[in-house]
Amino acid sequence: MDAIFLQGWVRTRRDAKAFSFLELNDGSCLKGIQVIADAALPNYATEIAKAHTGASVEVRGKLVESKGQGQKWEVVASSLTILGEADATYPLQKKGHTMEFLREIAHLRPRSNLFGAVFRVRSRLAFAVDEFFQNKNFICVHTPIVTASDCEGAGELFRVSTLDPKNPPKNEHGDLDYTKDFFAKKTYLTVSGQLEAEIFATALSNVYTFGPTFRAENSNTSRHAAEFWMIEPEMAFCDLDGNMTLAEEFVKHLIRDAKTHCAADLEFFSKFVDKELLARLDFVLDRPFQRCSYTEAIEIIEQSGKAWEHPVKWGDNMQSEHERFLAEEHFKCPVTVYNYPRTLKPFYMRVNDDGRTVRAMDLLVPGIGEIIGGSQREERLDVLRENMAQHQLSEKEYWWYLDLRRYGTVPHAGFGLGFERMLMFVTGVANIRDVIPFARTPGTADF
Ligand code: 4AD
Ligand code: MG
Repeated sequence: MDAIFLQGWVRTRRDAKAFSFLELNDGSCLKGIQVIADAALPNYATEIAKAHTGASVEVRGKLVESKGQGQKWEVVASSLTILGEADATYPLQKKGHTMEFLREIAHLRPRSNLFGAVFRVRSRLAFAVDEFFQNKNFICVHTPIVTASDCEGAGELFRVSTLDPKNPPKNEHGDLDYTKDFFAKKTYLTVSGQLEAEIFATALSNVYTFGPTFRAENSNTSRHAAEFWMIEPEMAFCDLDGNMTLAEEFVKHLIRDAKTHCAADLEFFSKFVDKELLARLDFVLDRPFQRCSYTEAIEIIEQSGKAWEHPVKWGDNMQSEHERFLAEEHFKCPVTVYNYPRTLKPFYMRVNDDGRTVRAMDLLVPGIGEIIGGSQREERLDVLRENMAQHQLSEKEYWWYLDLRRYGTVPHAGFGLGFERMLMFVTGVANIRDVIPFARTPGTADF
């Protein structure tokens, strides 16, 4: 091709006697393109001297078959212009950097191979999420970010307020007077779009929401972020079994989609991030996920003979070490644990006939642990009221949620997939901070 126009950033430059090689990349894919700038170019001396790693350039030229190794095609420049220079202080020089260092330069790290690949996969999977549900005729619902309710009941809420912290209005008891606040009540950033999704599922049958969620949870782990994205389908006329089946189909769809549309990026991860990645993804696609009740899971953990940092018995929350043991060592495959103790789970989950367990499900995957949490919802008004009383929730505040059970109630179920945890699973990247553009974690909200 005789007339090629390239715009991108210089990754590397090598100079020979009569010409220079530039490796250009514009982020559209992992592979860059090699440009040959002949010393006979009129502005060679002035421009090529400025073409350092990180500089932005425009090149016109010819696309020709490469005689060199490592690329099939290359561009012989007929003109080369530097748009923006980058000097030797540019932090992304060729040498390998630690992930910690790259987090400190989150404004530049998308220009590296690794983060380019991560964020291309992220974009593709966001598309695949919508595609999956739209193809099944699920209705997309944009649930609110500002809310007055704590869906998960864990008290991990960020307050939203415009009250003046220096001079807040007080009521006659000397407490903050939230009726004077912007929304005339206490409001928060949402931890989940589920409750609003239930409203729409009991009208439009199958719905999903995909948006940012916020948790003021002081967990400094590689799997927790204070701001993360969650995909939450909600289905009327659906029970726990249907919910587990959809979750499995959904996770497999996303893996298959990444393998098809992000093959080069996944290959890069399997070379430089996690050698077992591709084999693991194939393994997961090839067989059905396991299912196991919480009660069975606790027995398996107790009988494993392992020395646990946190020993568990029936009624306890499983810790990450147990979840990973189940997925990685015992089942060696993703496993959905269901029917958890009622006392461990939020008010909205459907109570089983035994009265002690609820129709909850957590999907655990090797390497990460919980990636999905969901349940069949309590659709019986009387049982829901009982649950709310146990959780000390006010019927007055949740009047609309109760109305869904007063008028045309139906069995319904749904789940939440943590988008970043899914990305960790698909890319092999070990820290949640490295699969979200700008991580919000305790003590950090830079960029
Ligand atoms: O299990 P969770 O808390 O479930 C819910 O919020 C339900 N309301 C969902 C529903 O039924 N519609 O969260 C769901 C998923 C988890 O399995 C995990 O993947 C992710 O969200 N998640 C987090 N991801 C990153 N950082 C955090 N702090 C997370 N907390 C939950
Ligand atoms: Mg959960």
